Amino acid sequence: MNTKLVSHSLFCGAVFAGSFFLMSASIEKNYHDTSLPPAKRAALLLKEMTLEEKIGQMCQYVGPGHVKQNEKKSDQNSNDMGNIDSNAFGLKFQTIIDKVRKGEIGSFLHVLSVEEANALQQVARQTRLKIPLLIGVDAIHGNGLHAGCTIYPTAIGMASTFNPDLLEKSGQETACEMRASGMHWAFNPNLDVARDARWGRIGETFGEDTYLVTQRGTSLIYGLQGRYGVEPERVLACAKHLIGGGEPMGGINAAPMDMSEQKLREVFLPPFISAVQSNVFTVMAAHNELNGIPCHGNYWLLNDLLRDEIGFKGFIVSDWMDIERMYSMHHYLPSEEEAFRVSVEAGIDMHMQGDKFFETILTAVRDGHISEVRIDKAVHKILEAKFLLGLFENPVVDIPGTRALIAPSKHRQTALEAARQSLVLLKNDGLLPLKKGVYQKIFITGPNADSQTILGDWVMPQPDDNVITVYEGIRAACPDAAIDSLCFSGVITNIQPEDIEIAGHKAKEADLNIVVIGENAQRYESKGRTCGENCDRDNLDFPGLQQELLEKIYASGKPTVLIMLNGRPLSVVWANEHLSAILEAWEPGMMGGQAIAEVLFGDVNPSGKLPVTVPYNVGQVQTIYNHKSSQYSRQFALTHTGYLFPFGYGLSYTSYRYGKPVLSKNRIKKDESITLSFDVTNAGEMNGTEIVQVYIRDEYASVTRPVKELKGFQRVSLKAGETKNIEFAITPDDLKFYTSRKVWEVEPGDFTIMVGSSSADEDLQKLTLTVE
Ligand code: BGC
Repeated sequence: MNTKLVSHSLFCGAVFAGSFFLMSASIEKNYHDTSLPPAKRAALLLKEMTLEEKIGQMCQYVGPGHVKQNEKKSDQNSNDMGNIDSNAFGLKFQTIIDKVRKGEIGSFLHVLSVEEANALQQVARQTRLKIPLLIGVDAIHGNGLHAGCTIYPTAIGMASTFNPDLLEKSGQETACEMRASGMHWAFNPNLDVARDARWGRIGETFGEDTYLVTQRGTSLIYGLQGRYGVEPERVLACAKHLIGGGEPMGGINAAPMDMSEQKLREVFLPPFISAVQSNVFTVMAAHNELNGIPCHGNYWLLNDLLRDEIGFKGFIVSDWMDIERMYSMHHYLPSEEEAFRVSVEAGIDMHMQGDKFFETILTAVRDGHISEVRIDKAVHKILEAKFLLGLFENPVVDIPGTRALIAPSKHRQTALEAARQSLVLLKNDGLLPLKKGVYQKIFITGPNADSQTILGDWVMPQPDDNVITVYEGIRAACPDAAIDSLCFSGVITNIQPEDIEIAGHKAKEADLNIVVIGENAQRYESKGRTCGENCDRDNLDFPGLQQELLEKIYASGKPTVLIMLNGRPLSVVWANEHLSAILEAWEPGMMGGQAIAEVLFGDVNPSGKLPVTVPYNVGQVQTIYNHKSSQYSRQFALTHTGYLFPFGYGLSYTSYRYGKPVLSKNRIKKDESITLSFDVTNAGEMNGTEIVQVYIRDEYASVTRPVKELKGFQRVSLKAGETKNIEFAITPDDLKFYTSRKVWEVEPGDFTIMVGSSSADEDLQKLTLTVE
């Protein structure tokens, strides 16, 4: 990363009066010695700090650029950040700048631009110790809160690729674009295991399976931070949200979570354990309460479990104003001040967004309620991060020198490849791939056909030239066809009955119809949001009049393809019964339209598989594939019981044949590892990539076990007619579970090993392994 010190003024000249860095006074101080390890430098700096300076490092504020925008807005209730209470802090732009200058702020989030980031760093240089600011951002699938950066598919699409390398690559590229934007800390990966389809944040997650979420999370941490800890040119990752928010009561974000220790340890904790083992530097606590204690005030969770048992060595940040909510939302503590004190005692090291934390903690330490040792522990880690990232040496970005690092063609190519691999073909009666040149009159309709809803949540409006919508992708793929469209300005709620009639007429005149509907997760300047953070739903149908639109187009009798852009599973029962072709595209990012067109016309053979189960209807939730054996021992009275599309499912334009699986040994000792092998053949006429999956079930155990659990997968590329022999190692770790003795171990007995193309029983071949 080519960053060097430059002077840049966004704010008025008085802010830093043309100042440049005064390195000389501090040059002899040891913490400036770059040959010392970051932790040592942090310890030396800490010794020179006053209590006020230390607590300042624990305070994070939303960027003053956002505050300025809010000051200008006449509508004080506008929800600018898409966060609950976003305007509740009542801060002024100038107050924040003054706080930086006094050393009362150590970190910002959601700084609007690299110019703003540089200017803030210049203000920080005016403090006594010149400690740089750590700037965080929700870079969830690319640095999407900055206009012009590369936008990859959302996490649910990245999970559908079952491709760890691609995710790591996207993380590394995101880190590069973040540093060029003056950002140092991604609030990512989201390690929530999403087990309720009503929850709006599913698109931000890697789906419903613990193993998959664990793998994905680790890949992203490697990409963002580096494989062996935080590399100076990359960024900090943040494992969030600890813990259990993916199964909120009633499906509503931030609702309580009551769970057994068994479930906590088997379902929700493994992604965090792996994140810690992968050196994740920060962890964010969850909005929700856990068994009656809000996560932000839960000493057992943040200390006994995360630090002492799992061995987390970094620092913990609160989620947006969630400390205050221990008072206002949870009714757990009788004042905000009490909430601040309890959160720090419980283990929170940095307060995200809002006032009063600084003064409250200062008083608490002075009055002896919180020890300075506790403060030192928090601040040491925050400073260490700043040293690790090289911020003391290079706090500002050389803007002209780094511009070329934002969304270069190499990164767009990764986004395109990720989009291609993320698409899941749910149904195909032979209509796809579309034959090129055959369809001369194409009608494209739906609010998601030509809009930036293709980008998903956590994205600012992007330059139009950076985004290929579905309409644009198809138009580019069919330069000679006459293409008509009706896209409702990208707003689901704009669809009116009279428009549906018009669409019906247009559909009859076309010889191919493409309907692009689903949900809208866009949080900025977007109307009719139906999905994303704080956008939970009590049904899983297409919102608004989209279903009516779809049925009208189908009634034209012309070939109709359904493309879904959405961030959570939708129960498309009617579509599955009536249409010939359905493509689940999730939110495929800036290159999504091109990838979709390539799949429709057969330039790319689809390979994505579902990382979540799709239920028949909302009443069937929870519909996870790894349920217990008794779950479906009884059936619903009048309707079908089970899934509409199973976890791990996805079609291809070719077909794959699995050979008989073989184990290197059928009886083993508890600590033995074995090899599972089988052939996979591409039995069709098109080259393709199959995601082969291995599931395991422990038949009888001291605690009832799920009917199957994913324990391995591989993406296997196969030319038409080609056969490959695939091997998986099955180790004791794959057979272990949290037993009734409250330890992870392998219990003797029979295990069923399952191999195939999805989690559905009919797609799996089974064999038995006995542990003696
Ligand atoms: C979300 C976090 C996010 C934070 C900062 C919160 O509302 O829960 O995931 O990192 O806002 O934007």
